[in-house]
Amino acid sequence: MPVRAWFPTLIYHEPLQRTALTRFNKELAEECRRLRDYDTAGRRWSSKNYPGGYTSYASMNELHRFSSTFGTLEKKLLGHARQFARGLEMDLRGRTIAMTDCWVNIMPEFTAHSLHLHPLSFISGTYYVATPPGCSGLKFEDPRLSRFMAAPPKLPSARPANRTHITYPAEAGHVILFESWLRHEVAANRVSEERISISFNFNWR
Ligand code: NI
Repeated sequence: MPVRAWFPTLIYHEPLQRTALTRFNKELAEECRRLRDYDTAGRRWSSKNYPGGYTSYASMNELHRFSSTFGTLEKKLLGHARQFARGLEMDLRGRTIAMTDCWVNIMPEFTAHSLHLHPLSFISGTYYVATPPGCSGLKFEDPRLSRFMAAPPKLPSARPANRTHITYPAEAGHVILFESWLRHEVAANRVSEERISISFNFNWR
């Protein structure tokens, strides 16, 4: 067919590292739960804005600056962000990229995270710490969806790249990176065990 694809939307998905993931995740999970116990303001904010769950998004969102465990995670994620930026062919010669925000999300059963994007950054992502079997994945929306106007629906057999949404499974030890303007959501967690993730933003100068 004389049809070619242009203007792709790129999503990065990789294990954080090849070894010792279980131990690192155990340490992170313990720290995330301790944070929830300690962060009264965050729990109060979550009760209004993240029903049933806990997020440090509005209270403690620079964890990489205050915790050595999160600082270690930041260093590892920086390597992945650089690799993603190379994949996007961004010109970062003579420029630096840095993590600006880093926060925890704990989702018990029924907690959801509605459609959103990440302002004031260029690369965002999530690292999965604890993902009980059957927990919700990360669902991305085609950024052109609002422009489709009168387009007919896609065939049920359409290739994943031609559909309007794609869901990545949440897998402990994996990193997902995307450009910050790409809207995404997490459907309600349907398993009783807690799903724990760490979200973050990168910016450049
Ligand atoms: Ni997000």
